Amino acid sequence: MPKITIIGAGAVGATAAQRIAEKELGDVVLTDIVEGLPQGKALDLMEAGSLFGYDSKITGTNDYKDIEGSDVVVVTAGIARKPGMTREDLLKINTKIIKEVSQNIAKYAPDSVVITVTNPLDIMTYVTMKTTGFDPARVFGMSGVLDSGRFAAFIAMELGCSARDISAMVLGGHGDTMVPLPRFTTVSGVPITELLPEVAIKRLVDRTVNGGAEIVNLLKTGSAFYAPSAAVTNMVEAVVKDTKRVLPACAYLNGEYGKKDIYLGVPVKLGRKGVEEIIELKLTSDEKKALDKSAEAVKSGIAELSA
Ligand code: LAC
Repeated sequence: MPKITIIGAGAVGATAAQRIAEKELGDVVLTDIVEGLPQGKALDLMEAGSLFGYDSKITGTNDYKDIEGSDVVVVTAGIARKPGMTREDLLKINTKIIKEVSQNIAKYAPDSVVITVTNPLDIMTYVTMKTTGFDPARVFGMSGVLDSGRFAAFIAMELGCSARDISAMVLGGHGDTMVPLPRFTTVSGVPITELLPEVAIKRLVDRTVNGGAEIVNLLKTGSAFYAPSAAVTNMVEAVVKDTKRVLPACAYLNGEYGKKDIYLGVPVKLGRKGVEEIIELKLTSDEKKALDKSAEAVKSGIAELSA
């Protein structure tokens, strides 16, 4: 079985471990700095395995050495948002955490594919790539899968149809400047621009952009974890099964979409090697403008790192 490490045994990390084990995508190593937390959750998940009938082994550890030889590393470590905070408010503290995590990934799992989840997502993915020194194709972030999942859920609620038939596309940074693309969002192949009036689309787009904050405001003590962990699991599956799924991900751009040395949400082909291809959509000038604005926001976050 592939070895899948999850760094950070909080709500997203532990729920991702559960989903990955239930799908038997690999053996899972749950890692955290809090003593007993990953061990306790891992043991609980092992005990659930006898009831649900999965053979994935889940272990918990506080020692980075145990991630040795991982095929995939999912990074969820860091502080989550509280009500009123933007993802960018987390920049300083999470950068410090991500640098330390990345050094250990480079040391113990030098051949792994790394999926970043920690916010501010696009910037943390950039920090991970720079600190590990890995080929950027092997370092990418989970954002567009979550954001397009939310968009699809809202469209399904609006139309009263199955979310399964909806294929949504959200580009850009995982923040207030994200770019849901109605033209590329379809219900069984029909673009939503033909199914819903413009005002309704605008409302669903706004709800998607604020999707993370909507959950934070309801929970008050933490941020979303069911949909984020589901999005992580879909991406892990694409990697370990080498499916070549085409999904939006936070990927390193080196000229694509006219951008360089930046991580930004774009459609990619995901396989065993990580981001195996970046797909360039033909955007209208308005869509391009929105993507440019999003890239500027990520750039200024990256610039803050060295400030
Ligand atoms: C969200 C946070 C995790 O979108 O970024 O829910």
